Amino acid sequence: MWRAALGLAAWPARRPVTIARVFRCSSNTNCAIGRRCISHHTNQSIAQLLQWKPAEKADDVVVNGYVRSVRSMKAHRFVSLGDGSSLAPLQALVHTDQAQGLAVGAAVRLTGSWVASPGNSQSHELHASKVEVLGPSDPKTFPIQKKYQTPEYLRTMPHLRPRTPLQGLLLRLRSDAIASLTHFFASQRFTQTHPPIITSSDCEGAGEVFAVAPAAKPAGSDSKKTPDDTFFRSKKYLTVSTQLHLEALAQSVGNVWTLSPVFRAEQSDTSRHLSEFYMLEAEMSFVDDLETVMDLTENMLRSISMCLFATTTVQELLSRSAHIGSDLAPADEVKRRWEGLMQPSWPRITYTEAIGMLQQKAELFTLRPTWGAGLQSEHEKFLAEHVGGGKPVFVTNYPRDIKAFYMLEARSNPQLPGATVECFDLLVPELCEIAGGSMREYRLQPLLDAMRRHDVVTPASEITDKIITSQGSHTSGSNLDWYVDLRRWGCPPHGGFGLGFDRLLSYMAGVQTVRDIVAFPRWYGRCDC
Ligand code: 4AD
Ligand code: MG
Repeated sequence: MWRAALGLAAWPARRPVTIARVFRCSSNTNCAIGRRCISHHTNQSIAQLLQWKPAEKADDVVVNGYVRSVRSMKAHRFVSLGDGSSLAPLQALVHTDQAQGLAVGAAVRLTGSWVASPGNSQSHELHASKVEVLGPSDPKTFPIQKKYQTPEYLRTMPHLRPRTPLQGLLLRLRSDAIASLTHFFASQRFTQTHPPIITSSDCEGAGEVFAVAPAAKPAGSDSKKTPDDTFFRSKKYLTVSTQLHLEALAQSVGNVWTLSPVFRAEQSDTSRHLSEFYMLEAEMSFVDDLETVMDLTENMLRSISMCLFATTTVQELLSRSAHIGSDLAPADEVKRRWEGLMQPSWPRITYTEAIGMLQQKAELFTLRPTWGAGLQSEHEKFLAEHVGGGKPVFVTNYPRDIKAFYMLEARSNPQLPGATVECFDLLVPELCEIAGGSMREYRLQPLLDAMRRHDVVTPASEITDKIITSQGSHTSGSNLDWYVDLRRWGCPPHGGFGLGFDRLLSYMAGVQTVRDIVAFPRWYGRCDC
């Protein structure tokens, strides 16, 4: 039902498991598998092979992988192989005479018979007849060990950390999530776009931008000199959010989305902040109210959660052994998170209601909740836990003066202490804010007024509409003039949201810090390789 409702009828509930399909193999009459036969094609993953449980022994099976561990018996070695496709390893039995070079970390190709295993830990195992060490490894110096290694230690070698089984799973979760997002937005007829990474403005106005400039030329170089900040003739930055450019694109093709890297020079050394992260952003045009934007956010998250929950990656995550998952939130807690994401009708409360609730429990907080001030993470945690009951919670209509300049002012309400804007933050237990969105100020003069109020510097915001129109604001070419221009010609009511993709994945996976959900994390003071 939910698939049809979300236009997802074509999306399979479960990913097809290729190995389960049995065809006759044309190259070997004794082979029961067929067209995509492991025996004669070496591109089958260990995950696929582990799913294959033939009653009869199958010969000439080829496996590529990395040695996770080696256990020596008298005449044999038990070799545990991984290839990133599953948490569970493949067990191979190799005769000691052939075991030379089978060391932890080595890249190997084993050929042999796939047979039912007498052991309890696996249904089948490979009895190797041929061993090829394709990429040797010195186990004495290979830094990734089977024994427990702390997340902090593993973070010191981001180039090798992806080889750990857990990091492999997290990479697959990310990949599956992108596939399911792409499908969701296509089914809703959103156009995927590529907004720029180098920009001329600080979208959020928080002053947390990285500046872009060419590296200084070596002394004595005879190439033409370009002063660092004039390559583009004015200062440019790495984007902190693609929203403003998405608004321009939404005026072309209607609803748009992107999953883009964004960069923030926040000096926040927390488990939730990165300097480089992926933001999923969507912008809807011809939309009159915030409810529609929240509906999209909620439907999208519920839809991808339901699709992902059925994947082997997430089922592995939830049934992982204590050994693999000792640094993750407990599996039952992670399962509760998934259940919350998959439930319908997430609560929506206003900021004013939230402040009222928090003030009734003021004794629980270090900082007193006050109307007009931002919500602290202790406040958000309380709301996420007590209002949501496991579901994510939308908090809407924050005070105008603590939110970004582009947000649409809400209809004035004399019962409130001040003006509010049509916006939301989406909170989840533990992690708190994972997404933020708003209706955008789409009228020219109110936008200029808001920019002035927020001290957003752009020449257009300093002069009146009439003067800009007669002079042609596009000639200035600096800062946010172009964004103001969008209001000048055919700007319908519109709104959108941005979701911290890495925060979402870390919530879904149960990792303790967003630094462990990103293969090569960058944060204040760290950018290792
Ligand atoms: O709330 P933010 O700042 O919203 C915007 O940038 C809007 N322009 C988005 C839009 O409406 N299109 O950022 C959106 C989300 C946050 O809710 C948070 O999940 C994540 O991005 N985020 C971060 N994630 C990791 N590290 C950081 N330093 C982050 N800063 C924000
Ligand atoms: Mg925000």
